[in-house]
Amino acid sequence: MPATPDSELKAGHRTMWASGDYPSMVETFLLPLGPRLVEACAIGSGKEVLDVAAGTGNASIPAAQTGAKVTASDLTPELLEAGRARAAAGGGELEWGEADAEHLPFEDESFDVVMSSIGAMFAPHHQDVADELIRVCCPGGTIGLLSWTPEGMIGALFRTMGPFAPPPPAGAQPPPLWGSEDHLRELFGERVEFRAVERDLLEVTAFERPRDYGEHFKALYGPAIAARANAQHTGRQDELDDALNQLCDEWNRGTPERARFEMEYLLAVGTRA
Ligand SMILES: C[S@@+](CC[C@H](N)C(=O)[O-])C[C@H]1O[C@@H](n2cnc3c(N)ncnc32)[C@H](O)[C@@H]1O
Repeated sequence: MPATPDSELKAGHRTMWASGDYPSMVETFLLPLGPRLVEACAIGSGKEVLDVAAGTGNASIPAAQTGAKVTASDLTPELLEAGRARAAAGGGELEWGEADAEHLPFEDESFDVVMSSIGAMFAPHHQDVADELIRVCCPGGTIGLLSWTPEGMIGALFRTMGPFAPPPPAGAQPPPLWGSEDHLRELFGERVEFRAVERDLLEVTAFERPRDYGEHFKALYGPAIAARANAQHTGRQDELDDALNQLCDEWNRGTPERARFEMEYLLAVGTRA
């Protein structure tokens, strides 16, 4: 990947996303999101599709299975490698490539569909990302974004972890802002006409007890691992663990013996002017 002024920052982000076991989180409860985005973008045979911050191909693989020509791009090579293995085990043909969503290494207007499932939202400089998504999409093409909302459980998770996490880089905006309709309109303005913007819930029933969900994040989710490491450094790890336990209890919609969570996301699909 070409060096940029913030190469060091991005190297840290890459390390963070390679820590834990994000591929296993996808298999445990995130799998429904990819096909949901692919269907909303009406991806089909012959379309040139770019998946930004594709991770292990949660959206790229179902997109390729429709016959589309898909490029799965991500900052973290370890996740792309896991995606390649998933695709080889029966997922269709795709290109996989390292790319920073803030500096996409693709020509202007080169894709019919540019999409991101809970991915582009994690690059720190939102306007840079939005400008890049527009730049690489053909006029009349589709931009599709599936993002956690600020009001939903992941929004609450990031607010809980924020005071314990390493300080964000200059100019960074919180990831769940991408799940706000107003924020999307500010970022894309008249350059994208959003024809479908809807909130929906991902139901999670994979965990027996509510706090098992928190333990899962603590062990496997890069941003939670980074926040805990920093909390340990500042002697506040127990405080963070208590806050995460409380979060799981508050957001449990099941029983104490059988947890059920509803994770809100925003699905926005628009046409590039
Ligand atoms: C929550 S995962 C989502 C992965 C996948 N799209 C999915 O639906 O499972 C967030 C992804 O964003 C990627 N990411 C974070 N910052 C990025 C950046 N600046 N450019 C490209 N990808 C980035 C991470 O490597 C990670 O794969």
